[in-house]
Amino acid sequence: MGYPKVTVVGAGFVGATAAQRIVEKELADVVLVDVVEGLPQGKALDMMESAPIEGFRTRISGTNDYAETKDSDVIVITAGLARKPGMSRDDLLAKNAEIISGITKNCVEASPNAIIITVTNPLDVMTYLAWKVSNFPTRRVMGMAGALDSARYAYFLSQELMCLPSDVDPMVLGGHGDQMVPVPQHTKVKGKPVTECLQPDVLEPINQRTRDGGIEIVQLLKTGSAYYAPSASAVRMVKAVLQNTGDVIPSCVYLTGQYGIKDVYCGVPARIGREGVMEIPEIELTDQQKQDLKASAEHVRENCEKLKIAV
Ligand code: 2OP
Repeated sequence: MGYPKVTVVGAGFVGATAAQRIVEKELADVVLVDVVEGLPQGKALDMMESAPIEGFRTRISGTNDYAETKDSDVIVITAGLARKPGMSRDDLLAKNAEIISGITKNCVEASPNAIIITVTNPLDVMTYLAWKVSNFPTRRVMGMAGALDSARYAYFLSQELMCLPSDVDPMVLGGHGDQMVPVPQHTKVKGKPVTECLQPDVLEPINQRTRDGGIEIVQLLKTGSAYYAPSASAVRMVKAVLQNTGDVIPSCVYLTGQYGIKDVYCGVPARIGREGVMEIPEIELTDQQKQDLKASAEHVRENCEKLKIAV
């Protein structure tokens, strides 16, 4: 039997790095698509030339033609503009909406049974848009954000606690923006809630650094935004789908009343498997966290309303 097929749209830093991780882990064969002629072809060829050294048996090809993405199992959408210093994720809304709309149409035509994972910012709004345009059931469209925000939280906590990043099992909810909600009581360090390991005055600056995690990288890079952790986070979700792991991963999913939030895409823990979102298990939150999560979801909803013209 052959490998599953994953299309990665956007051969920029996030897309190309995600594609590289997928083939190197032998999760799937990858089709890398971009509008720029030669770019996906060149990056795919370059990656294939690393196969004799890295030893992976999966294949990657690059194309400008969606016909080659036919019958993909998973589509990862990374295309669009990234932030520059001084820009918020919301500043990207209008331009990226146009891009995501067109890409989703093309992908869905070629792969009507795929699972879509969006990565483009503003993430929650682009995920909603991809769902609307695709006409897919909500379970087959989700966004990557919580996995990234949680990974950053885990790393920052591991530095404070002087443990391995992988010793931390993190939880960050909400939209992928300034209003994201770190949940320390559900964040475990070697099985122990982080609230039992760190005092609030130590924890709060780490929570804030997590909310500012994306901009911290933008300010350092100056000409673009993060891609190593974003691509790793997207690939974590791809793996959960392809291998039907049922892992609970903070993800941007469509809410139908969970946490008192309805008809909007927002970041919460979701069980991910071959059919996409298998379950949205509700975790206990403090009243403040519930309020913050709702505020974050309302911010997403307001931005989705700005999209009406684009859908
Ligand atoms: C980030 O948080 C690009 O939004 C992405 O780095």
